Amino acid sequence: MKKNSENNTNSKKSSSSSSKITNLQTRKSEAKLGGGAERQEAQQKKGKKLARERLSLLFDNGKFTEIDPFVKHNSSDFGLDKTRIDGDSVICGYGNVNGQQVFAFSQDFTVLGGSLSKVASNKICKAFDLAIKTGCPIVGINDSGGARIQEGVDSLSGYGELFKRNTMASGVIPQITVVVGPSAGGAVYSPALTDFIFMVEGVGQMYITGPEVVKAVTGEDVSHDDLGGANAHSTKSGVAHFVSQSETDCFEDVRNLLKILPSNNVDIKSSNETSGDSDQSMLDNFIPDTANQSYDVKEVIETIIDSGSFVEVQNSYAQNIVVGFSKFNGETVGIVANQPDHMAGVLDINASSKAARFVRFCDSFNIPIVSLVDVPGFMPGTSQEYGGIIRHGAKLLYAYVEATVPKITIIMRKAYGGAYIVMGSKELRCDVNVAWPSAEIAVMGPEGAVNIIGRKDISSADDPEKKKQELINDYRDKFATPYVAAEKGYLDDVIEPSHSRKIIINSLNMLKNKVDQNLPKKHGNIPL
Ligand code: HXC
Repeated sequence: MKKNSENNTNSKKSSSSSSKITNLQTRKSEAKLGGGAERQEAQQKKGKKLARERLSLLFDNGKFTEIDPFVKHNSSDFGLDKTRIDGDSVICGYGNVNGQQVFAFSQDFTVLGGSLSKVASNKICKAFDLAIKTGCPIVGINDSGGARIQEGVDSLSGYGELFKRNTMASGVIPQITVVVGPSAGGAVYSPALTDFIFMVEGVGQMYITGPEVVKAVTGEDVSHDDLGGANAHSTKSGVAHFVSQSETDCFEDVRNLLKILPSNNVDIKSSNETSGDSDQSMLDNFIPDTANQSYDVKEVIETIIDSGSFVEVQNSYAQNIVVGFSKFNGETVGIVANQPDHMAGVLDINASSKAARFVRFCDSFNIPIVSLVDVPGFMPGTSQEYGGIIRHGAKLLYAYVEATVPKITIIMRKAYGGAYIVMGSKELRCDVNVAWPSAEIAVMGPEGAVNIIGRKDISSADDPEKKKQELINDYRDKFATPYVAAEKGYLDDVIEPSHSRKIIINSLNMLKNKVDQNLPKKHGNIPL
């Protein structure tokens, strides 16, 4: 009897447990519909992926652990009480990317246009706090109409909390933004505070004010894309670091970048990879005989690094300087290289800011820096002066001096004036400075120099043109070589170009245990 009643109780218990589990499963699968099947269809019709699909593209095997699937808002103004949906407008979680733990959030445009409510912000902040505590990168997938208008100040507070996390985590864990929809108004500042922004062509847009406001205020008639699409931000503003043609490509690109980055500022991404030594001999005849002839510095980069390891950052912006990550014998290294193929590799405002930010990222995350120098100087002209080349050029100086990671510099050809100093000279605390025999190190180029210091001799000569050429030749013999600098110890050595890879690997090994410090201070005051 007793047994039977026990059995009955157990079966009642198990049927009630299984119905609870069925309820849980139903509730979870309903939550996965976000704003509903109709809105999901509308999203797909626009050629956009759904928020969960995006997370699946990011994580290994499409798998992640969700955080806060049941969180919903409690607002009722402007009819919001009819929009209380499990999970609200963002999906947060963590999983592995290339076997390494990463946190992510993905805004769901089908729920009130992905707008940020206070609870959506709470969810993102929870993921952020865990990412910081566990030392893992965080990826934010943005597709949102901005602050949830109906919530007023609550929503603004949500953004404030997010900006605070972005800033506090800066230099501690890598932060990556993916823009796959609108990112409007003050909402753009969370992406802007992260380290790298990926945009998908024709899908992602970022702007402070939309085209209607632009028209009303300035009279300009621009489309959303012209104003803040991937092309505008990757070529003109420099806001975007990477552009992809499709969302699938984009998440593959994010995975590739994460593969090369450390997880946090104390993680040394050690690698057992070794890369065979490729043929370097082409470098010995690479620099053109004529000083003004251009070449593509990316050919040098591709030759000296581990084969195929280069991930270029901002490849369509300020192309007169090339920055990106690569590997040397499996170790991640940041490369900063002047690009003679674009504006003769001159340093202007955009190139200075681009390189300065890259150098600071590398330094924050203990990534050694290799600089490849061929630079005629800073860009002259009123547009540069009025735009603040002094202030922006100073950023690059500051970034190089401040960086305590191993710093290796190779001067390939021109290193003139302030640009010699700024591009990783010995004086800026660089550790290994070498030059190719083709290097020319001087205050300025021969032509400009004789026009100043030989002006009287030239004007009083019987044949001024002949005299000028003589003076140029003298100047070139004296200064346009690396040996004066090497004799004075400003260079550690003059090397055969084909030995560059070997010397970089050797120097990285020598510097492996480098310890250097900056003076104790709250923080410096980089010229912003
Ligand atoms: C609440 C919003 C919303 C928002 C969109 N929606 N943005 N709800 N708050 N910020 C809702 C819409 O009402 C609509 O709901 C649904 O989301 C889809 O929006 P649509 O307009 O139909 O979509 P689409 O035509 O694709 O246009 C998308 C859009 C547009 C370009 C993003 O919605 C838009 O311009 N939104 C406002 C963008 C903006 O100015 N944001 C800045 C807010 S201020 P229904 O139910 O009608 O389908 C801000 C300040 C932050 O963000 C400050 C931080 C410091």
